[in-house]
Amino acid sequence: MRKIIISAVAKNNVIGKSNGELPWHISEEFKHFKETTLGSPIIMGRKSFDALGKPLPKRENIIISKNKELSYPFADIKIFNNLIDAFRHCKNKNYEKVFVIGGGQIYSQAIDLVDEMIISKLNFDAEGEVYFPKYDENNWEIVKRDKKEQFEIFWYKRK
Ligand SMILES: NC(=O)c1ccc[n+]([C@@H]2O[C@H](COP(=O)([O-])OP(=O)(O)OC[C@H]3O[C@@H](n4cnc5c(N)ncnc54)[C@H](OP(=O)(O)O)[C@@H]3O)[C@@H](O)[C@H]2O)c1
Repeated sequence: MRKIIISAVAKNNVIGKSNGELPWHISEEFKHFKETTLGSPIIMGRKSFDALGKPLPKRENIIISKNKELSYPFADIKIFNNLIDAFRHCKNKNYEKVFVIGGGQIYSQAIDLVDEMIISKLNFDAEGEVYFPKYDENNWEIVKRDKKEQFEIFWYKRK
């Protein structure tokens, strides 16, 4: 099973605001995210899920939280207390790939565990308090790039 980080990252590495909001709205980037993740499970931190407010359709939504009592009024979500259990769940369900969709805390813990990253590098700085974790470009091979108006998508594979 391929474990893949997908993220949109501003030039200054900001990925979000501390209140959970995204600092930008780029419909072309949302379209890319949707097309890429449809049909696959998506793993996210509890704060990112709360910011979404509801599960994203046509994908198994998996939430990571330390809170063992956490529950939501949605039928089709799964909650795990750590990332490893979430990956194990996806592997047991024979998914071909799983996407880690954020936010900052979850990316930091996933970055050493994933095989691939799909990063939309925005061509502007953004205001926010949550950052994508630092990573060594030397450890990653760029296998594909696609330049859009406001961002460029990089497909990375771990070397
Ligand atoms: N640009 C992008 O591509 C992108 C994508 C997604 C999100 N974002 C942004 O990222 C921001 C949210 O990121 P964030 O770092 O604040 O929060 P987050 O990673 O979404 O969620 C953090 C929460 O995850 C749970 N968690 C973290 N580590 C855990 C562990 N080891 N075991 C169990 N649970 C754990 C905790 O939940 P509990 O507190 O319930 O224990 C923690 O509070 C928002 O601004 C959002 O807009 C950006």
